[in-house]
Amino acid sequence: MAITAPATRPANPRFSSGPCAKIPGFELTMLADAALGRSHRAKIGKDKLKAAIETTRDILGVPADYRIGIVPASDTGAVEMALWSLLGARKATMVAWESFGAGWVTDVVKQLKIDAEVKTAEYGEIVDFATLDFDTDVVFTWNGTTSGVRLPNGDAIPADRAGLTICDATSAAFAQDLPFDKLDVVTFSWQKVLGGEAAHGILILSPRAVERLETYTPAWPLPKIFRMTKGGKLIEGIFVGETINTPSMLCVEDYLVALDWAKSVGGLKGLQDRANANAQAIWDFCAARDWIDNLAVDPATRSNTSVCLKFTDPRITDGAVFAKAVQKRLEAEGVALDVGAYRDAPAGLRIWCGGTIETSDIEAMLPWLEYAFEAEIAALAETA
Ligand SMILES: Cc1ncc(COP(=O)(O)O)c(C=O)c1O
Repeated sequence: MAITAPATRPANPRFSSGPCAKIPGFELTMLADAALGRSHRAKIGKDKLKAAIETTRDILGVPADYRIGIVPASDTGAVEMALWSLLGARKATMVAWESFGAGWVTDVVKQLKIDAEVKTAEYGEIVDFATLDFDTDVVFTWNGTTSGVRLPNGDAIPADRAGLTICDATSAAFAQDLPFDKLDVVTFSWQKVLGGEAAHGILILSPRAVERLETYTPAWPLPKIFRMTKGGKLIEGIFVGETINTPSMLCVEDYLVALDWAKSVGGLKGLQDRANANAQAIWDFCAARDWIDNLAVDPATRSNTSVCLKFTDPRITDGAVFAKAVQKRLEAEGVALDVGAYRDAPAGLRIWCGGTIETSDIEAMLPWLEYAFEAEIAALAETA
């Protein structure tokens, strides 16, 4: 049977889970106002950094008494700053259901050697938050980028917890609800949902996290790049734009442009609606077919950003080889770039659905996914 290629292609085939697609219509000329060649400590630089912080607060609804800092080394930098500065005062609970969460477990248990209970779930599943002890410091990833499994809400986190909750929210921020009253540390990087540039991270601290910083000194030395206190007091400047070291003013401008675009599509609600519509298009596609399914087992935990899919057709003998072949075919056709599953995750595809992706592009890509699947199944039959 001849397999016919779809007639139309997505206008933008970039579906990578990071760096993610830039805002629709992005052009480098949009960055013309960047304070290039100027000091980030000059008024112009400081004003831009402060605007980045305050617009982030506005769009995400971060409470006025939470600090927001721009920090080096992207989301990883922000998470590491939190782990190395805050942990050790009490027992920890490390929660992981995919690769990035597992990375934080390694850090805390093997490097920092913190007394920690480790709670894990397989790819596609999630840890039951009702079983966690929130009188310990609990470290977790809100949206598991490599499994497409997210925490549906923070209901299981008690308001009167004694421990801190440290949340890597890099593929959730700007796409999912983050209940800040339940979160003491929230981190993300610019390169994810808003399609910004890598290398810069955002670190958000609750008043309780600040209190910990000011009352507890870890037993280990902290490099300058991690230090948030001086003489037992928070360095407040970090949280108004006086960054620890030099940021890229080009990346700052790019983030400001992305934040402006976010406001133009309706802020957080508009971004969530866009991600939801994108993910829904894929879920509907899967529901109508018996050869592909969401990796997330419980529909309530399905990510609306990093949508992870597995092939379920019994004719497939080697899942990894098959998924790779489909991915390569999509890439060769120029209809879906960077959609292979993460290297540690089960074989399959991962399609980014965050707000910078146009639903029309998802809809134009899906017939190609069907086409690539049919073509690879036909190839299997030929070699059998
Ligand atoms: C959940 C999660 N945590 C951390 C990271 C690392 O982010 P970065 O490379 O921006 O430091 C990623 C990147 O994809 C991620 O998805």
